[in-house]
Amino acid sequence: MSDAAVAYPIDRIRSDFPILSETVRGKPLVYLDNGASAQKPRAVIDRISKTYETEYANVHRGVHYMSQKATDAMEAARLRVKTFLNAASERECIFVRGATEGINLVAASWGRANLKAGDEVVLSVLEHHSNIVPWQMVAEQTGAVIKVVPIDDDGRFLLDEYEKLLSPRTKMVAVTHVSNALGTIVPVREVIRLAHAHGAAVLIDGCQAAPHLRIDVRELDADFYVFSGHKLYGPSGIGVLYGRESLLKAMPPYQGGGEMIDRVTFEKTTYADLPFKFEAGTPHIAGIIALGSAIDYVEGIGFEAIAAHEHDLLAYATERLAGINSVRIVGTAPEKAAILSFNIRDVHPHDVGTILDYDGIAVRTGHHCAQPVMDRFDLPATVRASFGLYNTRAEVDALVAGIQRVQEMFA
Ligand SMILES: Cc1ncc(COP(=O)(O)O)c(C=O)c1O
Repeated sequence: MSDAAVAYPIDRIRSDFPILSETVRGKPLVYLDNGASAQKPRAVIDRISKTYETEYANVHRGVHYMSQKATDAMEAARLRVKTFLNAASERECIFVRGATEGINLVAASWGRANLKAGDEVVLSVLEHHSNIVPWQMVAEQTGAVIKVVPIDDDGRFLLDEYEKLLSPRTKMVAVTHVSNALGTIVPVREVIRLAHAHGAAVLIDGCQAAPHLRIDVRELDADFYVFSGHKLYGPSGIGVLYGRESLLKAMPPYQGGGEMIDRVTFEKTTYADLPFKFEAGTPHIAGIIALGSAIDYVEGIGFEAIAAHEHDLLAYATERLAGINSVRIVGTAPEKAAILSFNIRDVHPHDVGTILDYDGIAVRTGHHCAQPVMDRFDLPATVRASFGLYNTRAEVDALVAGIQRVQEMFA
């Protein structure tokens, strides 16, 4: 039997997240800001404590027991990441601070080594600023040119237009897997296939995909794939850059310092092998170990079950919000993850967010670090409800009741 066919254990899941029983001004917390950061299950919180209480020391360079115990736990987490992504080797899994650092690493290291004046980097309108600015910086340094794939009025990534942008000048395609502002799922497999047919490398920003979709970097044939731990129910300050080994091997280090060297003299320094070549300095040891627990937790529920649950929430929320006259949903692509952006006529999104907060409902308002998306729809901002594996239809009802109160206040 598929795991989606088994009843989704929502009560047990909610009880795994201590913060969900908190109240906000006497009202139950309704947490719908998972796109910004997800809450943490007890297993992750406990793993952080356990690390500091029983297995903490600096990693890799100690001969003593505790250092080896911490190193073993950290490297076990790397193996966990490897299976999570279906990477060919743990050498392809680099620990970084988050998706932003992963993209900066690739733009700086791969970009400076491989881009020259006139080369093209293809991005899309859907990108988070973290997948725009690092490429602009390297374009400025190298003379490379940025091309942008447009989206349609539903927020769909336009594959035809994308294909027209590809040419022998295209050296890198860097696109999001799921739009954080609209929820659009980008057909990244096809994006990668077409890029490779033109000889370009591909980076996928998987920040908003990792909590919702099963990721298989080998099936996708991705060259680089990044995600952040904190959106995947893990700690903040830790993330992963997956890179194809042959590419990572050829890339120069990003930062210099401890951990990433083989031998240092004032005359010449040689670098450590992968993955350590890209992990300068003491890493976020407890964060890495607890990221392994977050992956265990999410996979314990199963992506099929999570996707079915979140799809139900998204469909239900879309239907209920579409039934409210003054609400305009922004982002109506047929393939979406559980993100719902909307506006209420004549009410600024920040006012909507503030009024919802009086009822304990946490949504995000603003440009969501995706100003080109806002510009595409000629909007300064939207309200964004983003659902996670612990949200419920009752919470969607609370959101709808909150929106109705906003409407009444501004009528
Ligand atoms: C699609 C996308 N890319 C990149 C980022 C940046 O992630 P982080 O701030 O964890 O580095 C985010 C965060 O919201 C995101 O949604």
